[in-house]
Amino acid sequence: MFDPFEEACSLAAARGAWVHVDGAFGLWAAVSDRHRHLLSGVDRADSWTTDGHKWLNVPFDSGFAFVRHTAAHRAAMSTRANYLAHAADTAAEAGMVPARDQMDWNPEWSRRARAVPVYAAIRSLGRRGIAEMIDRCVDHAHRLVAEIGDLPGVEVLARPVINQGLVRFLATDGDHDSHTDQVIGRIQRDGATWFGGTTWNGMRAMRISVVNWRTGDQDVDRTVAAVRTALG
Ligand SMILES: Cc1ncc(COP(=O)(O)O)c(C=O)c1O
Repeated sequence: MFDPFEEACSLAAARGAWVHVDGAFGLWAAVSDRHRHLLSGVDRADSWTTDGHKWLNVPFDSGFAFVRHTAAHRAAMSTRANYLAHAADTAAEAGMVPARDQMDWNPEWSRRARAVPVYAAIRSLGRRGIAEMIDRCVDHAHRLVAEIGDLPGVEVLARPVINQGLVRFLATDGDHDSHTDQVIGRIQRDGATWFGGTTWNGMRAMRISVVNWRTGDQDVDRTVAAVRTALG
């Protein structure tokens, strides 16, 4: 789901509030010509976060924060201690332009070089490759919800806006919640596909979410067949 960012940012600006957008998945939609409109107004936010380990498909844990206000970001993140060497100080001593000092940018002092796989993924896919991956996952999610929804005894609760939707399984005895959990359990044990359960508007539901770059049309076919078997 996407909030109405134009409206939210106007309301927040009028009251001097900071708008943060949790775009863990959704911010990637901005790469796609088909889905960019969902993020209209998001550029007015004060900060965004998103994850490389979700739709960019790089390993855990590659989160990014984008902060409009340099001073606020710097004040929240920088640390100084007498025993630490800081790029600004060492560069000044050598009469050089300081390199970016990692301690001014993120909460950790020690971390692995997460930026390397992120850089490699972005360089190898390019803007078009990322957009194709986003659009492909969205198409798979729509097809999964539509085709699972067409099976007897399935109710679609939420069609995907991008890559996630919800269905539930209707019981003949009326206990749809228990039946939905039982069918989810059968699908998970079958192992062809994995969907989690959730509660939405007081109803148990199965959450359909597609994010893997390798998921293809045949996987969607196999998945629909696995759900049909679990229902049978
Ligand atoms: C919207 C949203 N925010 C935050 C998170 C959690 O992010 P992380 O994996 O970086 O802890 C998720 C995970 O699915 C998410 O969907």
